[in-house]
Amino acid sequence: MSTAARPTPVSDLDLWSDAVLADPYPAYRELRDAGAAVHLRRHAVWVVARYADVRAVLADDMTFSSASGVGINDRMNGLQAGTVLASDDPQHAVLRAVLSEKLAPRALAKLRTQIAEQADSLVRDAVEQGTFDGVGDLAARLPVDVVADLIGLPVQGREVLLPGADAMFAGMGPMDERLEARVPEIMAHQRYIGEMTSREKLTPGSWGAAILDAVDEGRIAPDAAVPLMTAYLVAGMDTTVHSLGNYLRLLAADPGLWKLLKADPSQIGSGFEECLRLESPAQNFTRVTTRAVEMGGEPLPAGARVVVSFASANRDERHYPDPDHFDIRRRPLDHLAFGHAVHGCAGQGLARIEAQALISALLRRVDRLELAGEPVRHLNPTIRGLAKLPVSVVPAGGR
Ligand code: HEM
Repeated sequence: MSTAARPTPVSDLDLWSDAVLADPYPAYRELRDAGAAVHLRRHAVWVVARYADVRAVLADDMTFSSASGVGINDRMNGLQAGTVLASDDPQHAVLRAVLSEKLAPRALAKLRTQIAEQADSLVRDAVEQGTFDGVGDLAARLPVDVVADLIGLPVQGREVLLPGADAMFAGMGPMDERLEARVPEIMAHQRYIGEMTSREKLTPGSWGAAILDAVDEGRIAPDAAVPLMTAYLVAGMDTTVHSLGNYLRLLAADPGLWKLLKADPSQIGSGFEECLRLESPAQNFTRVTTRAVEMGGEPLPAGARVVVSFASANRDERHYPDPDHFDIRRRPLDHLAFGHAVHGCAGQGLARIEAQALISALLRRVDRLELAGEPVRHLNPTIRGLAKLPVSVVPAGGR
């Protein structure tokens, strides 16, 4: 990459307007067609929307820094700075190492049975109702229980986790009246995590206790413990909730898919990857350039805030044929829904186990899964998912 003289393409699109959040894909296509990097005049940021360029930005963390936050507004970016998400190596590597053993495949494999039981119990209760909310009764329940148990939080008080994480993700969007209204939720979430970050509250041997061990052993500073807890409690929750909700919607909308998975449950995992590609739960994060750089022929100045669109990359027709189509046999193993390179999702193995557990339990207990009403979209500037998913089921064997 080298610097060039001509200006980058400019767009007046508002990526965070309700209309675009409801259906962002035409806007992403417009941006991909406009150039490798496009200046969004309204928010004074640049956006990189093509697959190859998004991947290149994520791989070059020396030029595209996370250290001044990964959202688009400075106030919230200031709150994030220095966390695992919002730091550069070598500081980032130290923070990331704290839970790396707990998230390694060998450690996660031991969790499979327990997560399968948790999922099965939720599915059993939902199926007994015949018609239920796929988000409220399933997708929004499993990740909260799983991640809060792993962090080692007491059962009481967990109700702040999901709205708090949603507000934190909203905080990565523009600082407007709607975000102002959510600041109290963000503060309540922060207070709760601050109170929970203590030996008295956290289960011995939990992820939370491992974070406190890292403080006691001098591997991280005492004031890094709460932000690290926050990173896992935010990044690990809404993302997974909405990935499960999105997957359930796709399956409920097409009876042929349910039949296919019933006949061959080994496709659950690759179906989940295709769902993440098609409806990436984390749509856009940002980076800041540490130097002037050329992006696919477009010049970016030093200090530019660049929106890195995972969701657009995953729909790029330059990379995936017929990208707007859900093809359960596609196996898009190179999708960018979990990011890529040093900041690539630390919890992707866990998310995959949760999806496998939930869909397997449903396949065992349900012969037919159908929409029982219009899904209700949840609008969040960063996360794409559903608020409600009315579904009805025919229990397996007519039970
Ligand atoms: C389907 C569910 C999930 C999706 C779509 C997702 C997506 C992402 C993405 C796109 C990033 C990259 C951020 C960047 O490049 O700046 C990321 C990072 C991260 N994720 Fe996930 N995530 C999911 C589940 C989880 C879970 C279950 C956990 C943990 C319990 C988790 C913990 C993290 C952490 C700690 C990071 C920061 C990694 C770093 O900066 O080094 N995520 N995730």
